[in-house]
Amino acid sequence: MSTPGMNTKPALPNFDVEALRRDFPILAREINGKPLVFLDSAASAQKPRVVLESLRKTYEEEYANVHRGVYWLSATATKNYENVRKKLKTFFNAKDEREFVFTKGTTEGINLVAQSWGRAFLKAGDEVLITGLEHHSNIVPWQMLRDQIGIKLVVAPIDRNGNLIWEAFEKLLSAKTKLVAVAQVSNALGTILPIQDIVRAGHAVGAKVLIDAAQGAPHMRTDLQALDADFYAFSGHKLYGPTGTGALWGKKELLDAMPPWQGGGDMIKSVSFEKTDYADVPAKFEAGTPNIADVIAMGAAIDYLSALPWDAIEAHEADVLAYGTSLLKAIPGLRLIGEADHKAGVMSFVLEGVHPHDIGTILDQDGVSVRAGNHCAEPVMEFFGVPGTARASLGMYSTRAEMDALAAAIRKVQEIFA
Ligand code: ALA
Repeated sequence: MSTPGMNTKPALPNFDVEALRRDFPILAREINGKPLVFLDSAASAQKPRVVLESLRKTYEEEYANVHRGVYWLSATATKNYENVRKKLKTFFNAKDEREFVFTKGTTEGINLVAQSWGRAFLKAGDEVLITGLEHHSNIVPWQMLRDQIGIKLVVAPIDRNGNLIWEAFEKLLSAKTKLVAVAQVSNALGTILPIQDIVRAGHAVGAKVLIDAAQGAPHMRTDLQALDADFYAFSGHKLYGPTGTGALWGKKELLDAMPPWQGGGDMIKSVSFEKTDYADVPAKFEAGTPNIADVIAMGAAIDYLSALPWDAIEAHEADVLAYGTSLLKAIPGLRLIGEADHKAGVMSFVLEGVHPHDIGTILDQDGVSVRAGNHCAEPVMEFFGVPGTARASLGMYSTRAEMDALAAAIRKVQEIFA
């Protein structure tokens, strides 16, 4: 990182963040004549060179449609595409690679569960329990299902720091609860939810449990067999892979029992005008030509992540978050939104007298990229009584020096509005 005159001391002596940053070509560029300080990884993470190289290699050397051709190129593309399921199985310690259905991201994964499992196995009056800090993608699919079949959407409250109120959550669980659907990490607040406890509590009342891992998967390793959830949806593009990728993991027996949700090529065994026999999972849920090269490049991202020292990365991110938080808290007139006991990667804030969009625009003049708005979590904004926030979010490549740059740029905003 080349931010000059700032805190360049590595956060942890055993983790070389500067070496890691060199794997991400875009981090070396400038914005508005200033070194890029990219603090919007919660929206989409930057890509390491191996991901870019994988895309080039597929399209230049190994590209054809998958599952269809008898020729070398198609067989190779098919092998590379299907291999990604094996990589995911290992990375997430799943039982079976067929438990991963490729999707275009977390949103599609959750919608798949709502429209396939939900329509087939839920009935009017059944309850889906979510929390007050969910992203729209873990609210709206359940509202759509409510309007279609009459399920009830129940919301467990959060407290003023952004923690799930556990006692209230437990009280809302009952025999009527058929699904608990929660974020692993809140995109707007950074709260890490106690998903292991949530899985246990959900199962204790006979509910299935879905984890929205869009923000969780990039910040912590998850062992799916140990977690024992029923569904786990994540996005490739937040996991340092390409956009338009992701997967829904589901327990094999659940996926086997679920009907397909989209019909077309590749998801069938045989078709006549009278009758169609569907393919086995995961093909049953992957109608049409898939996102071949991007999925293969997501596999390259998984390879890259698999080779990294995750304990050190988690400690590094926690250090940068704690350091950044302490800097922001020292700025008079700045209010942090979301101070949960366990947090990952996100600092949402408002500045007295300054609209979040103005903060974002002015920070950009100093090369500091943050997201401003409601972060697809309007109920969270309403709860905190703000129209939106400015949000700095971290990736594994974020540094203390970038936190210094952020704090300095925020102070400039305040000078402009003073
Ligand atoms: N859900 C993404 C975010 O939080 C886009 O920014």
